[in-house]
Parts: sequence; C-alpha cells; structure tokens
Amino acid sequence: MNNQTILKNQTIEAIDKQYVWHPFTQMKEWQEESQLVITGGEGIRLCDQDGNWYYDGNSSMWVNLHGHRRPELDEAITHQLESIAHSTFLGMTSPPGVLLAKELISISPPGLTRVFYSDSGSEAVEIALKIAFQYWQQRENPVPSKTRFLHLVNSYHGDTIGSVSVGGIELFHSTYHPMLFPTISIPCPYCYRCPFGCDQNTCEKKCLDSLQTVIQEQHENIAAFIIEPLVMGAAGMLTFPPGYLTKVRELCSTYHILLIADEVATGFGRTGKMFACDHEGICPDIMTVAKGLTGGYLPLAATLTTEEIFNAFLGEPNESRTFYHGHSYTGNQLACAVARANLELFRKDQIIPALSEKIRVIESGLERFRTLSHVGEIRQVGMMVGIELVKNPDSREPYLPEDGVIKSVILGAQHRGMITRPLGDVIVFLPPLSSTLVELQAMLNILFESIRSAQVIE
Ligand SMILES: Cc1ncc(COP(=O)(O)O)c(C=O)c1O
Repeated sequence: MNNQTILKNQTIEAIDKQYVWHPFTQMKEWQEESQLVITGGEGIRLCDQDGNWYYDGNSSMWVNLHGHRRPELDEAITHQLESIAHSTFLGMTSPPGVLLAKELISISPPGLTRVFYSDSGSEAVEIALKIAFQYWQQRENPVPSKTRFLHLVNSYHGDTIGSVSVGGIELFHSTYHPMLFPTISIPCPYCYRCPFGCDQNTCEKKCLDSLQTVIQEQHENIAAFIIEPLVMGAAGMLTFPPGYLTKVRELCSTYHILLIADEVATGFGRTGKMFACDHEGICPDIMTVAKGLTGGYLPLAATLTTEEIFNAFLGEPNESRTFYHGHSYTGNQLACAVARANLELFRKDQIIPALSEKIRVIESGLERFRTLSHVGEIRQVGMMVGIELVKNPDSREPYLPEDGVIKSVILGAQHRGMITRPLGDVIVFLPPLSSTLVELQAMLNILFESIRSAQVIE
C-alpha cells in the first residue's frame, strides 16, 4: 500500500497516534494535541503534509549540516546503493568504513589514530566507557583500581544505561537511579547560576578548584573524565569559561586519567571549528562523534582512540584482551559513504572558514534579544545558541511548565515558520551550517517575535 492509498483512508497523524511511541514525549499530551507531519525538505527548510514550510531551527535535533536533499549527499547514497547497502564489519571489512576512518583521523585532534564505529552517540559513549575501563585493567602496567568515571553535574551523554550513568540531568536520571553504576560528579561551570555563588565579575574559578581537589583525592580510582567540550548542549547550552578545557586536560595528564571528549553535539563545525577541542588545541585520549558525522542523513557514530589505548587490546586470542563489543550495523556501508561525502563537502565548500561571518551575524542579531524583559542569559558558541528565559529576571526564578511560556514560544515560532525544541527553559537556536546570512536573519526575527509575544500573552 503506498502513502496515497493510506491517506485516503486514515491520516498519518491518526495512525501515528494509534501505533507509535515517540522519544522524550509524554504520549498522553501527544495524543491530545495536533501534530506536525513532515513529508519533505529542501535546503534548510522542512515541509509538512499540508504544504507549509518551516526553517529547521534546530537542524533536526542537531544533526543536519548542509541542508536537506543536498545533491552531493543524495548522490553518495544512490551511488553506494549500486554496489551494496550493508555487509557486516565483524570478521570482514569494506571500502566506505575503511576510507572514512582514514579521513576522520586526518581531521581529528592529533594523537587519535583508531576508529570504532557504532550507530548513535549513546553507543559511542558506551564504547568509550568500556574501552577506558578495560584499558586500565589490561595495559602493560595495569591499574586495576581505576574503575570509576568522573563527569560534570548537568552533563548529558545519551540514554543507554552507561551513558545515563555518566550523565547528570536529574530529570533523566532519577527514575533509573537503581540501575545506574556509581560515578563521581563535580559542579559544572554554569556561570549564570554559579554553584559557588559567584558571577562573571567575581569569578574565582572555584569550579576548577573543586575539580582539582576531587582529582587529587580520588585519581587512583578514576579511569576517565568524560566531558562535553566547550558547551554542555542538553544542559541548556552551558558554555565553559576560556581555559577551562585546557586546565581539564592538564589535570587529567598529571593524574593519569583518560580524557574522553564527547563531541557528539559539538563535532563537525557546530562550534565554529571542526571540533570543540580545536578551540583550545587540546587532544583527548578518546573522542566520540555522531550526529553531524553523516551531515544529518543516516545514523552513524564513532569512538576514536589513541594508538596507546588500541595497543592495550592486542594479544593472542586466548589472552582475552579483545574488545568484546559490536553491533549488527557496525560500519554500515551506506552511512559511511554519506559520511565521506559530508567530509568532502567540508573540503570542497570550505565550510569552516565560511562560518565566522555567520557566527558574527548570529551574535549581533541576538543583541536586541537582551531588551526582552524575560531573557535571562544568552549563550552562544559558534552555531549553537541557548536563550534562557526566566520568570523573574532579578531573582532568576525559572518558569514552571504550567506557566506555558516556553511552549508558547515554540508554538509561536512554528506558527511563524520555524521549528525548534527547548531544553527546559532554554530556547535552542541551532541552524544548519549551510544557512545563508539572510536565512539566519529571518530565523532570528521569528525567534525574537515568538519570545516577545509569549511574554505579552503571559
Ligand atoms: C553530548 C552528547 N552525547 C551523546 C548524545 C547521544 O547521542 P544520540 O542521541 O545519537 O544517542 C547526545 C545527544 O544529544 C549529546 O548531545
């Protein structure tokens, strides 16, 4: 039965409500409200089944880089389909995965030399944790006590049990708490709501002191520090003070703690450089990538490691040093082919150099948002923006869901022709890297009007 036949009898929305369970969604509310059905896309816009067009203001959940139906990416998939869609990476290999690994290493921070594929950011993190754990157990001079993971409060690394364990967003954590493994968490640099009571003017970098203390006291038990470099996306686009990442790298090196940089959200140009680590020239021991790896086309992720870590897994079959992990679709040929075309676009279109002007336009376009009375803080790193709205700007009191203000901003933006999704009280603006200056201005206008009128309704 084709789409047209289905539509004659029952709408897609009705069938969805009868059979589908959506991610991060209260399905009761979903079933009670009318929903968008996206049936097409072109450039940085999405089209619904009634022919309405919307700017893709959060890059389809932070994945899309070059727009929808990008001919070079479409072509990479159809070209690969002429050979094969998928064959296993277990016990055999294939050109797209091999060549992509070489290309990925060539653009990644120096020192990373090996690529382990998976299908989502959460899995890439899960793999990073298992590799770090196993590394300390079986390297040349093992340190069996190094079994714990250090992470920041409010961090987010995905939804599988391991990645939730090293996450710190209470809303996602509390229900599963009994299933999670114990970790060590430290306050994050959330300067607008500084956990040490400082503000930007009185900052004494106490967050770094507390990090140093924890590391000094517990380094013998810490296998790795996992961090979202430069900006903690899901926590509400919380941005690090300059030098924070460098200090983290120094401490990890001094105290023999592996540094896992989770670049799932920040990788592939989002922050204005290829990777967020590049801003401070730091090299992690393990790096995770996903989301933008395929330009937003197909699910693919990777965990990159140093040669030293890789070497710790070499041995005879009976030595049990193998990394026992893999998925049915590891190294999927279609996904790797489109990821290679994505990287080729970065080279051909000189995407990174072109970003600086776009980033400046966003920065100056956001200035007038400060005149809106309920805008608490505006945080921007490259093409990633979070606008934190507050009920009371003086006390910084947050909105409650029942206030309905955040929802009204999002629906207002949709009504005006842009889709985005909030993170709590933070309105996210994360446009595709290919957005033109004119498109960026148009999206910012929509956002401004939507926030302004939501305040009036309130
Ligand atoms: C920093 C970070 N790590 C991991 C993930 C999980 O990625 P995925 O949704 O592909 O599992 C995300 C998702 O937003 C993320 O932002």
